[in-house]
Amino acid sequence: MKVLVVAGARPNFMKVAPVMAALAAEGHPAVLVHTGQHYDASMSDAFFADLGLPRPDHHLGVGSASHAVQTARVMEAFEPVVRHAAPDWVVVVGDVNSTLACALVAAKLRPEIGCRVAHVEAGLRSHDWRMPEEVNRVLTDRLADLLLTPSRDAHANLAAEGIEPWRVAFVGNVMIDSLFAQLPAARALDVPRTLGLERGRYAAVTLHRPSNVDDPDALAAVFRALERVAADLPVVFPLHPRTRARAEEFGLGDRLAGVRTTLPLGYREMVSLVEGAAVVLTDSGGLQEETTALGIPCVTLREQTERPVTVAEGTNRLAPWPLSADGVYRAFRGALAEGRRAAGAVVEGWDGRAAERVAAALAEAEAAPGATTLAAAGAAAHG
Ligand code: UD1
Repeated sequence: MKVLVVAGARPNFMKVAPVMAALAAEGHPAVLVHTGQHYDASMSDAFFADLGLPRPDHHLGVGSASHAVQTARVMEAFEPVVRHAAPDWVVVVGDVNSTLACALVAAKLRPEIGCRVAHVEAGLRSHDWRMPEEVNRVLTDRLADLLLTPSRDAHANLAAEGIEPWRVAFVGNVMIDSLFAQLPAARALDVPRTLGLERGRYAAVTLHRPSNVDDPDALAAVFRALERVAADLPVVFPLHPRTRARAEEFGLGDRLAGVRTTLPLGYREMVSLVEGAAVVLTDSGGLQEETTALGIPCVTLREQTERPVTVAEGTNRLAPWPLSADGVYRAFRGALAEGRRAAGAVVEGWDGRAAERVAAALAEAEAAPGATTLAAAGAAAHG
């Protein structure tokens, strides 16, 4: 079984690392393609080092651009790589532009080279079409031959869209594989101590969604809330490049009195910071999951979440919408009052072994009769 695995942006790297390792352990070493959607050392190289990822076999170097241009660049550069590698499977993860671009290329090459597409983290839905990630998720799932879900709620979402159940398999959350694997090394780093902070006595913040950071009023409201939080507890805020650029553009650079901003952190540094926090405030999808697994109260700065299991079973709560300084601060106080829980496998399949199930699902689909492929289903439907 020849597998090609795609990674493009920061939240992809912790998902592909365990999948690459599990495939290699099963005797299927995969070809790794990095699209270059994220390229700064702090957004990419640091994660490869921390996660023990091999050097990519192909680096497409697409960089930043508008959605259309970035997606098109990935597609143009990825097509010859797939043609050359002629894999049985193209594995894409998550919901970034690289995910959709590569799924689309592979789906179009399916009749020619017989490759199939597997989507890891399939079936998550925010039901908010203003989010670029929602467009990427829905279209990637429509294109994929094998949809590998991180939580049971994803199955209802896919069924509602008419996705045939034989294309869908539950595997659990590969991101939690990386979290549990790296937790001892992250703890040993002790980032809180390096920053002069007491474990369990500070808040950690991340923010990068266009809906929060590209709108001056929304960003100003969150910054005012963070200043109030900082009056209660030290606040550490690693700044995504997009957020730093917008804060400067909107003249908000000096509006974070008492908040310690840092450059983006590496994977282990971030896990260490989060694991020691009293509360996390974030608009990241990954951090909603990681805080659930670590038992850290999380306030999500979004109107809705595509990860409802983190609210139902985990430690997550949504801040009142639309975001206001008062609403965010009150949500922070509520989360703080709730306190930390013990870390562990609180959600089914978030147990550190999801990538093994990904490798097994791929091998099973590979061995399955040809009827269970989109191409065969299409051929049958059209005689
Ligand atoms: C992307 C993903 C988002 C994910 C996020 C994690 C899409 C549509 N969005 O958003 O789902 O949660 O990554 O970070 O794919 N930049 C740098 N250095 C880098 C990368 C980006 O400076 O290495 C700056 C550039 O100015 C760029 C901006 O950040 O224009 C945004 O980068 P982009 O990859 O377009 O989207 P993200 O906001 O990072």
